[in-house]
Amino acid sequence: DTINWTPEMAEKEGYDHFMIKEINEQATSVKNTLTQKDNIQKIIDDLDDISRICFVACGTSYHASLTGKYLLESLAGIPTDVILASEFKYSAKTLDENTLVIFISQSGETADSLKALDVANETSKTLGIVNVAGSSITRRAQYVIQTQAGPEIGVAATKTYVSQLTAVYLFAALMAKDDRLLNDLDKVPDFINEVLEDVESIKAMSQRYNYAKDFFYLGRGYSYPTALEGALKLKEISYIHGEGYAAGELKHGPLALIDEGIPVVVVIPPGDSHKKTMSNLEEVKSRGARVLAFGAADDEELAEKAPEVFKINPEVSEIIAPLVYIVPLQLLSYYITIEKGFDPDKPRNLAKCVTVE
Ligand code: G6P
Repeated sequence: DTINWTPEMAEKEGYDHFMIKEINEQATSVKNTLTQKDNIQKIIDDLDDISRICFVACGTSYHASLTGKYLLESLAGIPTDVILASEFKYSAKTLDENTLVIFISQSGETADSLKALDVANETSKTLGIVNVAGSSITRRAQYVIQTQAGPEIGVAATKTYVSQLTAVYLFAALMAKDDRLLNDLDKVPDFINEVLEDVESIKAMSQRYNYAKDFFYLGRGYSYPTALEGALKLKEISYIHGEGYAAGELKHGPLALIDEGIPVVVVIPPGDSHKKTMSNLEEVKSRGARVLAFGAADDEELAEKAPEVFKINPEVSEIIAPLVYIVPLQLLSYYITIEKGFDPDKPRNLAKCVTVE
């Protein structure tokens, strides 16, 4: 018998799609990116007189940037903005030599980001956090942090996202000299692997929810960017409308759309935001939403109030939750897409690298 292996099948190493292979590589991507600690410290030592940071990015990289704002403002006390690269021209009007402009990009070639980088280079210090070595952003930015995800083939970013987050966490923790956070980061690969071991619960969940036409994703604080990224993953590959919302903003509009049977993903790790997110969970539940909660395994209140809970190690505090809680949301989008019979690696109308403005 001959086995007709194509080069592409060989590259997938036995996985059905690149996306699921890449989701499964995320503990390694985080571990490999953590090796950049000394390089990042060198950059920080070189950058004195930074009074303000401004992140510029698109898509998933924008969500990593938003997480960076929460980290840098809370831990290091540095005023931080986040600007979509395509809005940079209209919005970034007050950059100066004490501003560090950070460009996050997996490809290093996104046209909107490159355009903004050229402008930022005229006034400010610039840093690229990029996965593809030798790409245009790595060549044009004044400083570069290389994320260590390895090649990502799936159009929907997964392992590059957790690698970007890892770089941003290292940067913020080193800026803030927060040894406790640095120490906690070392535990993240194991936490990710624990989630991956529980894939069967997500598969079962995906079978129960693939009927939906709309999904909401709610999170507060550090979990807000996770809600946005979870919803983006769903839109990109399953073609279901997914909307990420800051849980507290729900009552200012989307609550009008919540009715019987609509799935609402609630990202609710233990920490400061827990209590308020819980009341938002109850709000949507009382209007008939089907709540899918992602929270701590020992959260008894959550087990009581949410009909469906994906359980995550209680040691994952809300501050490091973005690195871990995104994994089940990626898996959920992947399996819903498989249920619907679409190819998650090649979503319609989308490209891995967008070189037009
Ligand atoms: C495209 C990709 C997304 C990515 C975005 C930004 O839309 O499909 O996965 O998040 O571009 O790309 P970048 O390479 O700049 O991170």
